[in-house]
Amino acid sequence: MQESSKIFVAGHKGMVGSAIVRELEQQGYTNIVTKTRTELDLVNQAAVAEFFTREKPEFVFLAAAKVGGIEANRSQLGAFTYENLQIQNNIIHSSYVTGVARLIFLASSCIYPRLAPQPIKEEYLLTGALEPTNYGYAIAKIAGVKMCEAYRTQYGCDFVPLMPTNLYGINDNFDLTNSHVLPALLRKFHEAKISGQKTVEVWGSGIPKRELLYVDDLAEACVFAMTNPNITELTNIGTGEDVTIRELAETIKRITGFTGEIVFNTTKPDGTPRKVLDVSKINSAGWKAKTKLVDGIRETYGWYCSNQKSKIYTHST
Ligand SMILES: NC(=O)c1ccc[n+]([C@@H]2O[C@H](COP(=O)([O-])OP(=O)(O)OC[C@H]3O[C@@H](n4cnc5c(N)ncnc54)[C@H](OP(=O)(O)O)[C@@H]3O)[C@@H](O)[C@H]2O)c1
Repeated sequence: MQESSKIFVAGHKGMVGSAIVRELEQQGYTNIVTKTRTELDLVNQAAVAEFFTREKPEFVFLAAAKVGGIEANRSQLGAFTYENLQIQNNIIHSSYVTGVARLIFLASSCIYPRLAPQPIKEEYLLTGALEPTNYGYAIAKIAGVKMCEAYRTQYGCDFVPLMPTNLYGINDNFDLTNSHVLPALLRKFHEAKISGQKTVEVWGSGIPKRELLYVDDLAEACVFAMTNPNITELTNIGTGEDVTIRELAETIKRITGFTGEIVFNTTKPDGTPRKVLDVSKINSAGWKAKTKLVDGIRETYGWYCSNQKSKIYTHST
């Protein structure tokens, strides 16, 4: 990939897509094509085909998807299945038809079997039952991974699926009903500090462990994978390290400056005891996550305080 290569980042307004654009710009790439949903609805097959024929991007990062929490996945099961299948079918097939040199497809570690052994290796995909709360999303993402492999086998397309772990960072979703554990806790602790609460409740025992990757590290890994011809197969992207929810809550408490107590509500479910990726494949290819959790959370909290807070308060009042 040259600095002047035409690069299409699908989903550039999202947490991952915006981080990829930042990373590409920082590395000196100058010909980045982006389209908002109003300009190009990626679910629309004819519109996507027309866009690829007209623009002829040489490299594609597929970071557009319908993404959401448990409740959204449950109540919009059909839409999660349809829109994700449609977006990736349209982009992957148009990339083949118009001769895209390389494509990175973003899957997600939540599509591994629910009870996969830990740490999770790439070959565990499709070896067990899926997590029922997001199976529509998972089925679509698995189809995307398999479609990249099938297009490589049949047509020789250089399309690479990556499997990121749980992400957090700038442009994350801080909606309390629909967000992941880290942004939800950041917001809870921040609001508790502002309103002078004495306690913050954290669901579960605090014992389960989770792996968390700063989104800027993921973006760096995506560009690394795009420019590394040796990476051709499904590859996990994560830190390979996990922390307990208790450690996470205590770190967030410190960073937000909340001085009250953390109360673990053990009547709420803990979920999977541990979820961590085996990252030996990407590490041996030469990439390793570099942002320490505490630094990533500090950056994210800074961004939240200056960008997101006012939007959320306006929205929720
Ligand atoms: N977040 C995580 O923890 C995580 C973890 C592992 C993998 N991933 C993967 O990373 C990718 C990006 O996730 P994210 O967290 O960045 O999600 P996000 O913040 O919700 O961003 C998704 C982007 O896709 C765009 N999009 C969705 N439907 C579209 C459509 N029909 N037409 C045009 N654009 C459309 C959205 O546009 P609007 O701005 O208009 O909504 C948004 O810009 C996904 O494939 C996800 O599976 C995420």
